[in-house]
Formats: sequence, C-alpha cells, structure tokens
Amino acid sequence: MAFPNNRKRINRASRNVRNLVAETILHPHDFIAPLFIESGANIKSEIPSMPGYFRYSLDFVLDEIQELVDVGIQSVLLFTKESDDKKDNTGEHASDPSGLMQQSIRAIKAQFPQLVVMTDIALDPYSIYGHDGIVDIEKGEIINDATISALVKMALSHVKSGADWVAPSDMMDGRIGAIREAFNTNGFKDKGILAYSAKYASALYGPFRDALDSAPGFGDKKSYQMDPRNRKEGIDEANLDEAEGADMLMVKPGSYYLDLVSDLSKSSNLPIAVYQVSGEYAMIKAASEKGWLNENEIMKESLIAFKRAGAKVILTYFAKEICKHLINNYPNS
Ligand code: PBG
Repeated sequence: MAFPNNRKRINRASRNVRNLVAETILHPHDFIAPLFIESGANIKSEIPSMPGYFRYSLDFVLDEIQELVDVGIQSVLLFTKESDDKKDNTGEHASDPSGLMQQSIRAIKAQFPQLVVMTDIALDPYSIYGHDGIVDIEKGEIINDATISALVKMALSHVKSGADWVAPSDMMDGRIGAIREAFNTNGFKDKGILAYSAKYASALYGPFRDALDSAPGFGDKKSYQMDPRNRKEGIDEANLDEAEGADMLMVKPGSYYLDLVSDLSKSSNLPIAVYQVSGEYAMIKAASEKGWLNENEIMKESLIAFKRAGAKVILTYFAKEICKHLINNYPNS
C-alpha cells in the first residue's frame, strides 16, 4: 500500500502545533473602535439594528473608552449624531469649534492623551439631504469641489480640537490632497490621514445610517461611492490617495471586498485598513441571536479573514468583544 509522502495534517495535529504554525494572529493593537456620540448626558442608547452596540452621550463615552483601553485598544474613530437644527446643505456646523464633535475630541484627549483619536470626515451627519457633500438641488448632483472646501474646514477644526487623525469617508475627488495641503500650511503637518480609498456604494451601511439618522433624503450615493462591480478602480483610488498624501488606506465594506484588501496590500506599502461595517455586524448578530451561527467563532473567523487577506488595521463594532475574547481565551485564541 502506498502512503502519502506529504501529510499536511502533521501541522494541524494539536492545538499547540496549530498555534506554532498560525500565520494570522489577532491582537488588540490591530483594532480601531468606532464610537457614536450624541448630545446630552447620561445616555446609552442601543441601536436597534446593531444589537449590543450603543450611542453614548459624551460623559458616558468616556467610560466606554476606559473599557476599551482596559482591553488593549489604542485607537477610536468618532462619529456624532447631530440634531436637525445642526443640518443644512453646506455642512456649516461641521466646522463649528463648539460643535459636539469638537467638544468630544477635546474631552476625550484630555482624559486619554495617549489614545489615537480619529474622526470621520464627510458632511452626511450635517446634511439636510443626508449626502456626504453639498447638493446642487436643481440638478440633484453632489458638487465635488465646493464640498472639498467644506471638508477641509471640517478636518482643520477637528485637528485644532486635538484629533490625531482624520478619516475622510466622502469619496470626493482630490480631498486627500486638499486636506494634506491644508494641514501642511496650517501647522498640522504631523496629523494623519486614514483615507477611505476603496469605499463602495453598499447596502451594508443601513444600520449605521439608523445610528446617526443620516440616510440620504433623495437618491443614493452611487455617484461618489464606488460601484461594487469594479476592482481595478479601487486600486486606482488607493494609488491616488497615496500620492495625495494619505498615511493609511482603507477598504470598505470588509467581508465582501477581501479581493481589494489583498490587491492593496500588494500595490501599496502603506498599512491597509479594512472596515467591517454596520451591516456586517448586524448580520452576524442576527444569525447568532437566532442560534444559527456561533457568535464568537464567526466573529473571530470574519476578523481573521481580514488579516489573512492583508489588512493590518481593522475597524469593527466587535472591537471590544474580540479583545475580551482574545484575553479570556489565551492561549487558545
Ligand atoms: C459617512 C460614513 C458612512 C459609514 C462610515 N462613514 C455611511 C455612508 O457612507 O453612508 C458607514 C459605516 C458603517 O456602515 O458601519 N460617510
């Protein structure tokens, strides 16, 4: 009887051998935790389409950050939910030095000076139309260059308030270069830019738009976010962002776009980030609540897939949960 000469199972024979040969290891330092902040006090309100995920008032978000720091997380990405009186067509309020975002950045950096504080840059939370840019009402179009000026003002006001990094998520052409230039000429040359480079027009953002009350009032975001049918275009977007001065490149959503994560990890030497978005979180939670999937296992598998594909940095609503799991299950994780 002929025996196989090559027994791949030898490297899988025991937990310890598997751990020895594992190529992909999750660590708390890999994660950026997104945080939703609303105005007021004593608020922790669960987002219905994101079970187990909450919007916090500023006082409570500080407690939440302490919990994140305690499990080893070192960076957060801030989003604010703005009331209707803060919304217009030009995002005027987005660069208000006393706005909720600016107050939040100051309070968070005061209490956690080492924490890497990143902020989302796009007009949608401040737009009466729920769009990421300024709308030409007559044409029903999103105006690229005027939007860039608003985004530059917004980004400057965030770094002036103490943000370490900005993360432009709007997909306007040329915004990375404009923000980099504004940082360089206004005394903020050391601030980072995490570019949402390959950001697709995805159905997976629904729960996030519930969380921030930011769904588009008319139309969709397909004239600025990318077409899911395109792959090379994502590489092109990322190349441009890198040339314009981005420090990190992001693919978003995550799970359905691992080809892009893999492509960018080869085409660029910048760190690649991936965003496991609200709909990905919602799907995992919903199936787990029904008992159809094992939540811990599917959470871990989904996150490992990102790193295996080539991402270094992972933005996920599971950030705290996975870190707790990693800590509690060491060395089995
Ligand atoms: C805002 C923004 C969105 C997300 C991050 N920044 C929504 C959108 O583009 O409509 C989505 C995040 C998520 O779904 O978790 N431009």
